[in-house]
Amino acid sequence: MLVQSLTTTTSHQENIQGITQTLIDRILDKCLTDFEHEDYIAGVHHLCVRLGKLLQTHGTDTFQDWIKDYCLSHPVSQYLMQSPFTKRCFDKPRGYAGDATLIDYIYRIGDLKEEHSEAGRMIHDACIMSSCCDSVRWRAQHLGREINKMFDQKRRKISAISIASGHLRELSYVDGFDVKIENFVGLDQDENSNDVARTNFPHSNLFIFDESIRYVLAKKLPEQSFDLVYSTGLFDYLEDKLASRMTSRMFDLVAPGGSMIIPNFAKGMPEQGYMEAFMDWYLIYRDEAQVFDFMSELNMDEVESYDIYSDPSGNVLYLKVNKKGCIPLLHTN
Ligand SMILES: C[S@@+](CC[C@H](N)C(=O)[O-])C[C@H]1O[C@@H](n2cnc3c(N)ncnc32)[C@H](O)[C@@H]1O
Repeated sequence: MLVQSLTTTTSHQENIQGITQTLIDRILDKCLTDFEHEDYIAGVHHLCVRLGKLLQTHGTDTFQDWIKDYCLSHPVSQYLMQSPFTKRCFDKPRGYAGDATLIDYIYRIGDLKEEHSEAGRMIHDACIMSSCCDSVRWRAQHLGREINKMFDQKRRKISAISIASGHLRELSYVDGFDVKIENFVGLDQDENSNDVARTNFPHSNLFIFDESIRYVLAKKLPEQSFDLVYSTGLFDYLEDKLASRMTSRMFDLVAPGGSMIIPNFAKGMPEQGYMEAFMDWYLIYRDEAQVFDFMSELNMDEVESYDIYSDPSGNVLYLKVNKKGCIPLLHTN
């Protein structure tokens, strides 16, 4: 009896997998046909939407289990890997996904090398047009605007720190860095990225640490507090416990009357399926409650107010926490 029910379950699972494979074949075949007709925008758009839905149905575990390999073995993969954006993420030349050079593709900074095929360039452009890439560009502009806004509010030069600072592209949206900034600290574990940031923003009041977030957690930064403390493109990689600890440590760095901003990709982001199947790029997607939980280790007596909001596409959630201007004394017996 047991043997029979096990056999029935296995063949049911095989049937489901067979049906899913047929569906995936249709999705990938349609994309291949679009590419063969040089309709790269339609091909990438269709692929992202359909793989996104497939991921919502089957989940990351099933993607890792077999869907990813199944997709990669389809001939459309040879087209997609001609796109520098997809290929770099898949290959991970720096040893991790989402390095600052990859993010520069999204920011459309720098020219593509001659060696890339026409199809590769077109697919690359189509990927960069996606809504999640819009959200990454919005994120940099938003942080630039927040730096400008903090200067306007304080009516004096301000201090700020970016953790996992990458190439610090948001600084291109800060007009008059030397007029507005007293000192600005960047911190990133990737020395190559930090060198690019130093070259692009050669300000004497910009200090970049070649350090990992462990340096922040271990309280090794020079004693200083900042009007604005933020971290973009980091929390999507941090497990819940570490994210809460990091939030708490970052809030310690906020000066009285200052603010902390932490973005995180939202659940249901349409391109997640494409990223997991063809880019080997895994993020931790969160909802509002999970972003709220970043604050679980904060001393709320120090919090003036907080807000959780999203970008216009709804792809990224932002936690902004404002610190009280005057911190109440703690009563101890
Ligand atoms: C997605 S990029 C974001 C860069 C930049 N903040 C932006 O928004 O364009 C992620 C950055 O986090 C850095 N990073 C990842 N893990 C880190 C860690 N444990 N400590 C310090 N930096 C880290 C990487 O080196 C990379 O520059």
